[in-house]
Amino acid sequence: MTTSSSSAAERDIKKVFFKMGLIFFVIFFICCTLFFFNYREENKYIIKTLELKGSINEGNTLFKMNCVGCHGITARGLVGPDLHSITQRLNDKQIIKQVTGGLTPPMPSFEIDPQNMSNLLRYLHTLE
Ligand code: HEC
Repeated sequence: MTTSSSSAAERDIKKVFFKMGLIFFVIFFICCTLFFFNYREENKYIIKTLELKGSINEGNTLFKMNCVGCHGITARGLVGPDLHSITQRLNDKQIIKQVTGGLTPPMPSFEIDPQNMSNLLRYLHTLE
């Protein structure tokens, strides 16, 4: 009597653990998939941007519209840091991530298409 009821309880516990394991595995799998696709999209974006040849003038306009509030009209820094010789401190990939990632608040993430990102990069390269 006791043995059979305890083994029934054991079976119940096993079922619960099995279900929890399954749920955990599914969540883990979904996270991995999302991460993978996100990573691929990000990489595609970076490759596309680096293939394009940006325009300094367009980049300058974009900078004036979006960045001067924090980095200053001459990019010498206000709330955000001085961006002169930024291209010697960070590589293009890092700069793209900085602008589109929103990883360092209060700097927002910018949704910017590859052509404009390329323009912006080209402009940042002129700041020495
Ligand atoms: C709301 C203010 C704000 C705006 C707008 C903003 N930034 Fe920033 N930015 C910052 C701050 C603050 C940092 C420093 C973040 C940190 O590392 O703590 C920063 C850092 C950076 C860096 C890295 C600097 C370094 O020395 O590592 C780059 C590159 C940059 N910003 C480019 C841009 C560009 C390009 C734009 C316009 C598209 C822009 N930022 C718009 C606030 C801003």
